[in-house]
Amino acid sequence: METIRIIDAKDHVDQEVKIGVWLTDKRSSGKIAFLQLRDGTGFFQGVVVKSDVAEEVFELAKKLRQETSFYVTGVIHQDDRSHFGYEIEVSAIEVLGESEDFPITPKEHGIEFLLDHRHLWLRSRRPFAIMKIRNEIIDASYRFFKQEGFIKMDPPILTGTAPEGTTELFETDYFDNPAYLSQSGQLYMEAGAMAFGKVFSFGPTFRAEKSKTRRHLTEFWMIEPEMAFMHQEESLQVQERYVSYLVQSVLDNCQYELKLIDRDPEILEKYTHLPYPRISYDEAIELCQEGGFDIKWGDDFGSPEETYISDQFEQPVFVLDYPKQIKPFYMKEAQDRDNVYVCADLLAPEGYGEIIGGSERAVDYNQMKAEMEKEGMNLEDYDWYLDLRRYGSVPHSGFGMGLERAITWICHLDHLREAIPFPRMINRLKP
Ligand code: 4AD
Ligand code: MG
Repeated sequence: METIRIIDAKDHVDQEVKIGVWLTDKRSSGKIAFLQLRDGTGFFQGVVVKSDVAEEVFELAKKLRQETSFYVTGVIHQDDRSHFGYEIEVSAIEVLGESEDFPITPKEHGIEFLLDHRHLWLRSRRPFAIMKIRNEIIDASYRFFKQEGFIKMDPPILTGTAPEGTTELFETDYFDNPAYLSQSGQLYMEAGAMAFGKVFSFGPTFRAEKSKTRRHLTEFWMIEPEMAFMHQEESLQVQERYVSYLVQSVLDNCQYELKLIDRDPEILEKYTHLPYPRISYDEAIELCQEGGFDIKWGDDFGSPEETYISDQFEQPVFVLDYPKQIKPFYMKEAQDRDNVYVCADLLAPEGYGEIIGGSERAVDYNQMKAEMEKEGMNLEDYDWYLDLRRYGSVPHSGFGMGLERAITWICHLDHLREAIPFPRMINRLKP
């Protein structure tokens, strides 16, 4: 007899198999017990018919408690009434680990309670589906960038500098000197692009911002591609191909998971169509003003404005060319306007707002140095970065996509905290 996993049930119809499982729920009458089972690959039902099994097996089945682990043996049958399509007719049960008073019961729980029990909550259907989709997006990212000729390069996490401004840094003691947890790998990826042409990073980044919005984590995962000999236009095309590829991959490989979280695949299908619309920052400001927002040229968009802008479009939308005062020093100045950068944010539809930030990078040594001095940056800390403009500087562009932002949108979640296994927020470091 073969030991299989639930996901492979379809290949074993009418065969007797053994599966390692946990019990999620149970219903029983005098004659039959329905065991809801999960094994990490899927959820399905075990049926124990009293008249078909030994007396002890039926008694044991009736006594099993939520999250008890056991080996179940039985024959796989087709079950057209369930999402999953198969069930197991149980003949034997071998208990491995007892479980008493599992805190997360089938009744409704508040979000704080669930987050306090995240280590156990991960076992439930909804987190299961979201984490599987997260996994698909991670996998698809590696596939995409490999196909497009990128190599993965890992920037350091302990750093001495702050690419995205100094107010959002986690400081730590590094042998009596300050070090900071990386808030972006970009500057290192620029070094990588000059060495390997097209590189991407995929790793944790940290922001100590005191934002309590549904879009902010203090620790999140970012994908940061950087491309040498590439201008912004081509970079925008990489970005939309990438996002469309992610959505298509979820549609191709996560239909079961989408069903578990009630996400309509037809809505997602629209996001695979290219190109994505583009508007300028100037147009976006006008749009917000017409929508009744108190905002003027030069202001940054907050979450409500981003939600409003993205709500006006059926697809992700690029907002181009932001004022210099609200973007970082490393961006390239527009040719015809000295007050804006050649940059873009990609805002996700359905009100989700920014999922990607990117730009063409400044290439001129003197101009960059002047910009850094103006910002009051310590040039000594960045001499290595300036070297990239000293030795064979080339046009280059890059962007960063927040993994959890993309997941939250693709899964249609309310808050980023459900898009990462163990969220880190201002008031949450446990579990
Ligand atoms: O717009 P950001 O700050 O851009 C950068 O860090 C650039 N260095 C990227 C680059 O060009 N290589 O961040 C990029 C993305 C945002 O669009 C957003 O998706 C995500 O990172 N992000 C966050 N995600 C979760 N929590 C936060 N606090 C985030 N801050 C940014
Ligand atoms: Mg940004």
